[in-house]
Amino acid sequence: MGQNAVITGWGYYVPSRVVTNADLEKVVDTSDEWITSRTGIKARRYAAEGETTSTMSLRAGRLALEKARLRPQDLDIIIVATCSPDYIFPATACLVQTALGADRAGAFDVEAACTGFVSGIAIARGLVVSGSHQNALVIGAETLSRFLNWKDRSTCVLFADGAGAVVIEASNASVGIESAVLHSEGSKGELLMVAGGGVRHPASQKTLELGQHFITMQGGEVFKLAVKSMADAAEEAIADANLRLEDIQLMIPHQANLRIIEGVAKRLHFPMERVFVNIQKYGNTSAASIPIALCEAAAEGRLRRGDKVLLVAFGGGFTWGASVLEWFGEHEPGRPKSIVERASRRVEDLVDRVLPS
Ligand SMILES: CC(C)(COP(=O)(O)OP(=O)(O)OC[C@H]1O[C@@H](n2cnc3c(N)ncnc32)[C@H](O)[C@@H]1OP(=O)(O)O)[C@@H](O)C(=O)NCCC(=O)NCCS
Repeated sequence: MGQNAVITGWGYYVPSRVVTNADLEKVVDTSDEWITSRTGIKARRYAAEGETTSTMSLRAGRLALEKARLRPQDLDIIIVATCSPDYIFPATACLVQTALGADRAGAFDVEAACTGFVSGIAIARGLVVSGSHQNALVIGAETLSRFLNWKDRSTCVLFADGAGAVVIEASNASVGIESAVLHSEGSKGELLMVAGGGVRHPASQKTLELGQHFITMQGGEVFKLAVKSMADAAEEAIADANLRLEDIQLMIPHQANLRIIEGVAKRLHFPMERVFVNIQKYGNTSAASIPIALCEAAAEGRLRRGDKVLLVAFGGGFTWGASVLEWFGEHEPGRPKSIVERASRRVEDLVDRVLPS
């Protein structure tokens, strides 16, 4: 455990098609006032025809690699967190691997619904800190618009599409991703699910008639569980990092519902000014919401080197988790792009120091 895992690159992609609450008023019996007051959502993005979870992942992943000044060929592992994969298999991560040309990388998907990205971070951190991997590309991506039931107004207004990615690298820095906690309660799985299409209910005329390929949810129950589980996970992750709540400069919660986010902040006595919220623009993009929010927080100057950041999520399963990290930011501009170049530069430095000039 000689090295730390730090985020050195980040990027996101959202589809260009913006769908406002007013647009939804034309297709379902709803109103901007209802959606805004119950959820905080004003608009969301839907993928265009031909756009999929893997194509959005690719765009976000490329940006994250560029920011990290890392070439795809130098990637060790690609993890895509998604509950709306292109296929049941092959994994969406494998589609990203080949499109990137990441020849050396292993690739797999993580399915923990909206907790997927935090789960991916926990796995990547473990791989990097153990020394078995030098870097990882962790992507959260969803195309939930394809699972919306336009006859169920309590769910179709909430979920949407997008992708966000981070590069995690080994570092000798004294800090990095300092904790990651994950929890689950499978007995609550039926509160939020897509029941059809797996082996229990393979696609059939019956599953179509029953609407089993759509997202179903018992919203009120989900709401109550969400607030408590996110607050608990936040406290646990902060304690695991040997920090206190007041040490956290920015909380980046899963963007499911503004009232849930406010409920978590209230329960923790954490000021909303230090909570990042962008749900008004994108709705609930499940595993993509935290990495998209992280990218926007960085772009808005809300993440400075050394800041302690809390990521916290909950989702179907039920699953929930949190991670505390110290923000590292970008590498110095002159950093060589490839691992080989970087290694040879380190050897040159060493030779310079050892040999008399
Ligand atoms: C979905 C949610 C917004 C519903 O809010 P709520 O205050 O619980 O509302 P209810 O379900 O009690 O419904 C209240 C009324 O609004 C109606 N309603 C539901 N959706 C509506 C919509 N889009 N537009 C207008 N009215 C709507 C209901 O039909 C109900 O009407 P009724 O009283 O005549 O039966 C809320 O439960 C929620 O956000 N839950 C968490 C969901 C979530 O974040 N899931 C993702 C987890 S990762």
